[in-house]
Amino acid sequence: MSEHLRETHRRRTFAIVSHPDAGKTTLTEKLLLFGGAIQMAGSVKSRKAARHATSDWMALEKERGISVTSSVMQFPYEDRIVNLLDTPGHADFSEDTYRVLTAVDSALMVIDCAKGVEERTIKLMEVCRLRDTPIMTFINKLDREGRSPIDLLDEVESVLGIQCAPVIWPIGMGSRLKGVVHLLSGEVHLFESGRNFTRQDSTIFASLDDPQLEARIGAEMLRELRDELELVEGASHPFDKAKYLAGQQTPVFFGSAVNNFGVQLLLDFFVEHAPAPKPRATTSREIAPEEEAFSGFVFKIQANMDPQHRDRVAFLRVCSGRFDAGMKAFHVRSGKDQKLANALTFMASDREIVETAYPGDVIGLHNHGTISIGDTFTSGEKLSFTGIPNFAPELFRRARLRDPLKLKQLQKGLAQLSEEGATQFFRPMMSNDLILGAVGTLQFDVVAYRLKDEYSVDAIFEPVTVSTARWVRGGTAKKMEEFREKAAMNLAIDAAGELVYLAPTRVNLQLTQERWPDLTFAATREHA
Ligand code: G4P
Repeated sequence: MSEHLRETHRRRTFAIVSHPDAGKTTLTEKLLLFGGAIQMAGSVKSRKAARHATSDWMALEKERGISVTSSVMQFPYEDRIVNLLDTPGHADFSEDTYRVLTAVDSALMVIDCAKGVEERTIKLMEVCRLRDTPIMTFINKLDREGRSPIDLLDEVESVLGIQCAPVIWPIGMGSRLKGVVHLLSGEVHLFESGRNFTRQDSTIFASLDDPQLEARIGAEMLRELRDELELVEGASHPFDKAKYLAGQQTPVFFGSAVNNFGVQLLLDFFVEHAPAPKPRATTSREIAPEEEAFSGFVFKIQANMDPQHRDRVAFLRVCSGRFDAGMKAFHVRSGKDQKLANALTFMASDREIVETAYPGDVIGLHNHGTISIGDTFTSGEKLSFTGIPNFAPELFRRARLRDPLKLKQLQKGLAQLSEEGATQFFRPMMSNDLILGAVGTLQFDVVAYRLKDEYSVDAIFEPVTVSTARWVRGGTAKKMEEFREKAAMNLAIDAAGELVYLAPTRVNLQLTQERWPDLTFAATREHA
């Protein structure tokens, strides 16, 4: 097998999706510990805090107790290279999260065993389902009293509409937690507080029939467990790899991240069964990761933490071929070759300069405004990866300047900040207003703060009667012309020059859609 194929097939690129507080940070930390990427639990959190302190505007998010940044963590495990793409936890930044999910090959859903399926998990799962992303499920906090495991599986199946295949089954819960059974291997792992980090550090019985097991968990518990397993076997589905890879079934694990319990069982199963990089659709053909020619797309742009330099990092997912430091790649949107010098990798806890990267890997490119979210880089072929969405914002404000002479800077700032994708910038066709759309209200504070800090523009955001936005396409040229004339009062151009209908109310949108059946009113704009 060529080096390229070998390296590609051992990549596992995924993200964790969960509702805040389910335990994503804790689990991430434990996974990194297994990968030897960090030495001490707690360092992911403290690193987060240290990073926040380095930038002024980040103080804002710290005040609010949330994290705006997301990062990429690469670590080796067994013979695999795992790329874990972190997703920001706060609901206000969900757009960012959605786009991270376009750059992964699979996802891990973390659920709190006491809370079950929560609202944000439902939203994120919808996105995964759109792309048939394979999903594994980790039901966390088994050391606390939670809902019955059967109940939880039922909820996942009915609320999320995905078949559950339990791989790990808990023996008791909360104060009665004794351990777990691996339903595929039959092994029983005992829960021992302060231990359980690795297999060597755990008490493992080969099967339920081990005579010592009864002595450890008690005859009554063992009987209960056998009854329960019989029930589970009858009522649930066996693991079916094809169904998992098609996004129709989720293997389910139980554990306690904070106690290391069940984490290695999950990771072992993950590296064995989670998909390696998959082919990806483009505007002209599908690109297989095995192809030798380099290609990739940008799914995220992040402002540099260092305000002195004010450059941005564009996160590119490699889709085929090999990235070599200093190579030139074709930037499809501008039609120009760009030298990809000093790309960053995200090994361990620090950014490092990357020498080579393979499909599934993410590299950070320094960006001075020429790279946008959704951009494709190739070895020369003119095609673009599809499916990187721009969601319709749900909140709108009009930007008003305190100093009218700063209009140019304001326009520049709004346009540059919307490059990052967290806000969207609209210019109505019939007025000189500058309208900003966002998915959450916090975005307006962040933008106002950054306009002042980075562009020396003092702007405030005031209410405007827009309730939703739709990208308008389709129809004949004549119909479109007619629409532009009739609906001009509500039309705007977005930062990419596309036509957008800004509806004052939902009812208005519905009536407009009924009136113009030949046109499509899309809630997302795909980056072309
Ligand atoms: P998030 O990233 O999904 O928001 O969750 P995070 O890992 O920060 O975990 C949220 C809280 O749940 C943390 O407690 C964490 O320690 C706790 N937690 C995580 N896994 C488990 C588990 O298996 N069992 C129990 N009992 N708790 C767990 P916190 O008090 O908010 O933070 P901290 O003081 O521990 O840092």
